[in-house]
Amino acid sequence: MQTAMDMRYKSYVPYSHFHVGAALLTNEGYVYTGCNIENSSYGATNCAERTALFKAISEGEREFEAIAIAAGREEGIGDLITVPAPPCGICRQVIREFCGPDFKIVLHDKEGNIKVYTLSELLPESFGPENL
Ligand code: THU
Repeated sequence: MQTAMDMRYKSYVPYSHFHVGAALLTNEGYVYTGCNIENSSYGATNCAERTALFKAISEGEREFEAIAIAAGREEGIGDLITVPAPPCGICRQVIREFCGPDFKIVLHDKEGNIKVYTLSELLPESFGPENL
């Protein structure tokens, strides 16, 4: 979670000013980081979770344990107010492609308290590769 918090400062967020950081843990203990990368078209924006996952997949990783996600709203220059960061629906589905039901999604509340969910809790009755 500390890595995810730090990654918020790498975000490219000129439109929303909403900074998201992610840290993805592989089954072998490596960590891949991500941040949100916005686009002037808005629709081409990439969330922090998908940045981390796509970085890992593109390096050949296929097995994952957990992802920590942190967010912050800008306050003043260089300061962030920590705000909760549940993953969006598209990111839940992309995680679902590569991760099992017990994959851990580590979130924080606005006080920074950690809460751990499983993928199956955040995306029940989901559609995945084995449904095809
Ligand atoms: N965002 C993420 O990076 N992850 C999420 O799961 C929720 C939304 C980003 C996308 C956009 O850059 C900003 O937060 C506001 O929606």
